[in-house]
Order: sequence, then C-alpha cells, then structure tokens
Amino acid sequence: MKKIPFNVLAPAFEAHAAEYEEAALRVLRSGWYVLGAEVEAFEREFADYLGVSYCIGLNSGLDALVLAVRALGIGPGDEVIVQANTYIATVLAITGCGATPVFVEPDGYHGLDAARVEAAVTPRTKAILPVHLYGQPCGMEGLLGIAARRGLAVIEDCAQSHGAMWRGRKTGTLGTVGCFSFFPTKNLGAFGDAGALVTEDEALAERVRALRNYGSKKKYVNEIEGVNSRLDEIQAALLRVRLRFLDTINAERAAIAARYAELIRSSFVLKPRPRPEATHIFHLYVVECDHRDRLQEHLSAHGIGTQIHYPIPPHLSGAYARLGYGRGAFPETERLAERVLSLPLYSGMNEDDVRTVCDAVNSFRP
Ligand SMILES: Cc1ncc(COP(=O)(O)O)c(C=O)c1O
Repeated sequence: MKKIPFNVLAPAFEAHAAEYEEAALRVLRSGWYVLGAEVEAFEREFADYLGVSYCIGLNSGLDALVLAVRALGIGPGDEVIVQANTYIATVLAITGCGATPVFVEPDGYHGLDAARVEAAVTPRTKAILPVHLYGQPCGMEGLLGIAARRGLAVIEDCAQSHGAMWRGRKTGTLGTVGCFSFFPTKNLGAFGDAGALVTEDEALAERVRALRNYGSKKKYVNEIEGVNSRLDEIQAALLRVRLRFLDTINAERAAIAARYAELIRSSFVLKPRPRPEATHIFHLYVVECDHRDRLQEHLSAHGIGTQIHYPIPPHLSGAYARLGYGRGAFPETERLAERVLSLPLYSGMNEDDVRTVCDAVNSFRP
C-alpha cells in the first residue's frame, strides 16, 4: 500500500535546491548573520509583494502578534475580540500583553463573524483580531466597518494566509497591522522559525523595529523595554527565494484543492466553502464530518495521514483554565473541534495521490 503523508516539506526544497543552497552559502560566506542586507531586502520584497509600506522581520508569528498588541499600547484592562476557533498562539499574544481575549463564535467560513463582534464590543475593547484560518480571508467588510465606527485597531493573523486576497487586496494589508508566521509548514515557509509584521503606520513600524531589537533604534541606546525577536540573515535569504515561488505554490495548492472538491463525493463529508469575494490559498484543506475520528482511522488504515486543526479550542485548554470557561461556552467552536479533519496537501502532491485520498474518503462508511 502506498503511504500518503499529511505533509512533506522536502519536495518544495528539492524543486529549487540550487537557489536555496546558493542563498544559504551567500550568507555563510558574508560573515554577517543577524539583521543585515538580506533581512532588509526580504522586508522590502515582502512589503512590495503585499502592497504595503512597512515590513519588519521577526522571530516568529507569535512574536509578530505579541509585538502588534504591545505596539498598539494594548495591555491590562483592555479587551481584544477574537474568534474562538483559532490556534492558541493568537490568544497567547493577547494574554501575553496582559489584555483579555473576548471570544466569539466563527461564521460559516471558519472566520471572525462581524455580527458577533459587534455584539461583543464594550468600552474596554481596543482591537479586533481576525484570523484568516486555513488560508481563507475573513469577511473583512463588516469587521472594518465596526473598527472604523468604534475607533478600534484591526490586527490580522495571517499566519496561514500568505498571498490570500479579499476583494483583490492581500491579507495583512486590510487592517491596522498584519502578522505573518513563516514556520516551515506555511505556504511561505522558512527553514526554521521566522515571522514578520506589516503595516501602513510608520510610527507603529518604528516602534516594532525598536521593540524587536531590545527596544533600541541606535546601538546601546534603549528607549523602550524591548525583546530579542530578530529575523536572521539565513532565514531571510531563504525566504527571498521562496517568496519568488509563493504564487506558484499557492496556485498548486489551489489546484489540488479544486481536484479534492471535484472528486470527493461522500455524503458524510462537508467540503470547505470558499468565500466568493476572496481567494483561498489552501494552507489547509479542512473537511468536516460527524464521524471525524472514524474517518481519520479509516484513512489511516488506507495509509493516509491527516491532522486536526485544532482538537482543543483555546478556551478549553489547560493553559486558560484560569479564564473559567467550561464545555458549552462556545458550542459551535467546540463542535468544529470534534468535526474538522485536514487532508494531505503539499507541494509535489500528484494526481495519483489526490485520487487515492479521494477514493479512500469516498469509500468511508461510518
Ligand atoms: C493562526 C496562527 N497564528 C499564529 C501562529 C504562530 O506562528 P509561529 O508558529 O510562527 O509562532 C500560527 C502558527 O503556527 C498560526 O497557525
């Protein structure tokens, strides 16, 4: 039986191995390894790709979110509205700054629901935090409208949405600030941890630039209490290579998703619903099933790897026991956690692999 893994990263490297090797060697031979010409070039190139003025390279996607919340001056006593169905990093950024996450249930596209956000706004609300989960942009119209009317910041979590577009504009450029992860599995993946923050706000960009480097703009002059969250030169050089192929990578993933949409016919499986006004970049292909665990076992018996994004919603995780939410606090989110299953999807996945997965899904009987 041929095994189909959930994800493999090597083929994406092999496809352009010579370019990656050249970039890494260029940095090794340069004698300059942290915050240099490669980081500056990547920041400029990624900003140009997105169509935004400022990009600051950081250590991780979590750091991008944390520094966004901090640079916006959000802290103890402040509330940030976020969808309950997200990866815990989104929430860690809020609580890491001492602010309070206010969870709302998602809309029918797994995104932040504007009507529920409106109902959750209080005098303490400082920001709303849409997560473009799985690579599909949130419905930004309502969210941007609320933010404008109420004077709130919009922090976009773009950890899964590099190059995804909403009404022709790239995610990360729609709100006040966009936060990206370049964790190796992401569509724009580095070869280690890396992240970036993008914004149109020059003062905010300057603050984050200082914060990432111990709070200094000038060596040994520290005006604010910063952190070490610098993107290193090797990751930046490798990301510059991958950025050139990002649109191709996204198109390949969308083509695989389109084949899944055509070939999966099981009445036990609900396929992802693409938002008509957006381009989904299919960081993940997530189906829903009433008998998810049995479907996962069935696929595993056919040699097919799957994952669950995510099995425990943040409000039920041990880390947030102190927030006092019990089971039933967010029933739609909890139901999703029991129903979602991510199918294999990776660069280099061929038609035979896709058909094998679809045949196995279609042969599932609960
Ligand atoms: C939605 C979301 N937000 C934030 C993060 C954090 O990114 P990183 O792993 O680079 O810290 C991730 C990545 O895992 C993510 O999927």
